[in-house]
Amino acid sequence: MPQYANPYVATKDADLLSEAFARTEDARDPLSKLRVEFVIPTKGDLRNKRYGPLEKNTRGAGHVSPNDDNEESIYLCGNSLGLQPRRTREYVNRYLDTWASKGVFGHFKPLDGGHPPWLDLDDALKEQTAKIVGALPSEVVVMETLTANLHLLMSSFYKPTSERYKIIIEGKAFPSDHYAAQSQLAHHNIPSSALITITPPSDDSPYLTTEHILSVISQHNASTALVLLPGIQFYSGQFFDIELITRHCHSLGIIVGWDLAHAVGNVPVKLHDWNVDFAAWCNYKYMNGGPGVIGGLFVHDNHGKVEKAQVVGNAEHNNHTQLHYRPRLSGWWGSDKSSRFRMENEFVPIPGASGFQLSNPSALDMTSVMASLDVFSLTSMEALRARSLRLTAYLEQRLLRYDNKTPPYKIITPANPFERGAQISVLLNPGLLDHVLHYIEKHGVVVDERKPDVLRVAPTPLYNSFWDVHRFIVIFQEGCRRAIARQGNASGKTPNGAA
Ligand SMILES: Cc1ncc(COP(=O)(O)O)c(C=O)c1O
Repeated sequence: MPQYANPYVATKDADLLSEAFARTEDARDPLSKLRVEFVIPTKGDLRNKRYGPLEKNTRGAGHVSPNDDNEESIYLCGNSLGLQPRRTREYVNRYLDTWASKGVFGHFKPLDGGHPPWLDLDDALKEQTAKIVGALPSEVVVMETLTANLHLLMSSFYKPTSERYKIIIEGKAFPSDHYAAQSQLAHHNIPSSALITITPPSDDSPYLTTEHILSVISQHNASTALVLLPGIQFYSGQFFDIELITRHCHSLGIIVGWDLAHAVGNVPVKLHDWNVDFAAWCNYKYMNGGPGVIGGLFVHDNHGKVEKAQVVGNAEHNNHTQLHYRPRLSGWWGSDKSSRFRMENEFVPIPGASGFQLSNPSALDMTSVMASLDVFSLTSMEALRARSLRLTAYLEQRLLRYDNKTPPYKIITPANPFERGAQISVLLNPGLLDHVLHYIEKHGVVVDERKPDVLRVAPTPLYNSFWDVHRFIVIFQEGCRRAIARQGNASGKTPNGAA
């Protein structure tokens, strides 16, 4: 992967640490304008114990700090749940109005000023989705949910034989991926020892070098049927070299699938050009489709073909045509649209990823994803990535500068920006996390914790600003100082360790 120099390394403290610097960076980036597309909860909204935004007339009552209730919160948690696009409410209302006023006709009838008929929503979302993951529109489909899609894809792509039966995942794979791979083995009566995990060479760093990944795959090459890896590792934020690893697997005759939960909408990928066999993702993190919303999957053109072959008849059967396609678990929504409602019980898969669909998708979910995709259409993944590289580099530099001292934490996300996306994971010194988290949450910061000591901080390029990062650092580092002082008081030592 190419190297990228952090543009803020040489910036003097007097500039870099100032609020004015962050404000200037925001002002000179044209993509800063996209923030208004999102509903940013205020600090008061987050503190409000009742659902929904804080009402004006209750503002201030019984809150920790009534003065900043109206200030936008510092939401750096798009790697877990993306914020709500403003247009989602309007789109969902349109869906509700259609359902209320048209009932079942909403499936079929094009409506002036409305969205496409629900029956066509899967096709309507293809083009924009394809742009985000670097695919042909026919190679992607919005359907089901991430783990369900991984299973569906593995049911088609994991075909163990007596020679090739192992599945390789990474050692810290997200539990759902781990369970999915484990249960696929069990489903095929293959012992769990056939699940190979790629673990980092040392215990104190989650980083997996590409060389190490390739060497583990090579080591098991003759007996491996499938490699299933994350595009971006959820814990460390490491962005794997999808292209190189895919090429390596293919050179050894191994199928490779990617879990893009933390990569989609975060970093540009080129699934078609990189010859990825299959991939699946969720639409609720960087995609901002809403909690638990419908996911998406990719099947490379090479695997999605549906071909007709003439079969010459015999005494029992006339000449007829037979369809050849990749075997899969099927449902009616994967079958040809023009004959779907004839109820003939003859599965005619739609060519490409759509042929992997099972059920008619939730139109509510699709509508929400449509709203999110329409926000992405205001820019491109390349432009977003350029902003993200700067934003994350700024966060990194701010984290590294801590009162001219060694910080009480270390960054465990790769320092090379081409090996990470928007997320930086921070490993705090033991015993600090709970106090730091308590302090920052009290001050309107939302990040994600992974016990015992890790905070994951994700400046999402669509809606986070340099100003957000500045405010985060000020509050986070103060939280660290206070947590250390507390530890010192509890142990009878001063913060610098002297008795
Ligand atoms: C990397 C990864 N894989 C799988 C999942 C599970 O996703 P779902 O619950 O949508 O199946 C998640 C959820 O956050 C995830 O981060």
